Amino acid sequence: MKPILLSGIKPTARVHIGNYFGAMKRFVEMQSEFQNFNFIADYHALNQMLATPQEIKQLTLELTAAYLAVGLDPKKTILFRQSDVPEVTELNWIFNSLITPSYLQSAHAYKDAVAKKKDVNMGLFCYPVLMAADILMYDSNVVPVGKDQQQHVEIACDLAKKFNHVYKKEVFKLPKAVIWEGESLPGFDGEKMSKSKGNVIELFEAEESIKKKVMSIKTDSKGVQDKKDPEADLIFAYHKLFSAQMIDELRSRYENGGIGYKESKDILFANMMAYLKPMRDKYFKLIKDEKYLNKVLADGGKRARKVAEAKMTAVRKVIGVR
Ligand code: TYM
Repeated sequence: MKPILLSGIKPTARVHIGNYFGAMKRFVEMQSEFQNFNFIADYHALNQMLATPQEIKQLTLELTAAYLAVGLDPKKTILFRQSDVPEVTELNWIFNSLITPSYLQSAHAYKDAVAKKKDVNMGLFCYPVLMAADILMYDSNVVPVGKDQQQHVEIACDLAKKFNHVYKKEVFKLPKAVIWEGESLPGFDGEKMSKSKGNVIELFEAEESIKKKVMSIKTDSKGVQDKKDPEADLIFAYHKLFSAQMIDELRSRYENGGIGYKESKDILFANMMAYLKPMRDKYFKLIKDEKYLNKVLADGGKRARKVAEAKMTAVRKVIGVR
């Protein structure tokens, strides 16, 4: 039996390079060594906006195509929709009874939303509980996520410990978050790249639009010959991801002077498009084949549900409702 990897993405917007480097790249790299459970967190999508049914449907298909285009293999990975496993919302309810509002008030997704005076619904407030149900349902060993989700994996650990303690049985395993060493990819404005901030570079957006965004990356006002600190430059942060083959040369041109920000952006744009090309080619083919995408989700949903049904049978027995 392989160890279990689990992670999800919300279908609230199209995937961006922060999602890719922070999470998706790891799913692909780890899928031979682990049994992956990768899903589309469609119930989570309701937390932050009440999207139209058409939007959720379309973004779900696009996310499925994206997962496959970046390299997930549906023969190895169980790729599914969160809502195809209703046992998860049942487990969410059980966990709600083990957690207090004061504990959830310290969760950062909720605190951020309150600080920004956003409309907060109970879905957002209880977000970490649903996420714990996702994680603990499949006995996940590792959960590769961006830094912003680390606290949620810790909450899942707390819930697993609490359940096991209250019911005096080791029903749930303690998962471990796997965080990318870059932690959080900044957006082209320098803030954390985030769907809600509108500062993202999507993996599959139009080339012209990517170019515009790359050209608008914020820099200081140093001239071509000025020496520059590569670690203080946002373009260079992206070079580390997309220009690995020439990173030493770029670093030395930054440190010694002789490269202007315009040239650095031109190089970055070319390298970015070359890096993304194989996945973009695959995505634009896959997105036309709705039937195939729906079949992948249906197959994955069945496999995930089988695992969840067995887990919930054990859980119901332990808590005494069956
Ligand atoms: P979501 O949809 O906001 O993001 C998906 C994944 O992308 C990571 N990420 C980033 N990583 C690095 N730099 C960035 N700028 C960046 N932006 C996003 C996120 O950390 C995440 O790993 N609640 C989750 C979805 C979810 C989930 C789960 C994840 C639901 N249940 C269970 C893991 C396990 C979310 O909203 O991710």
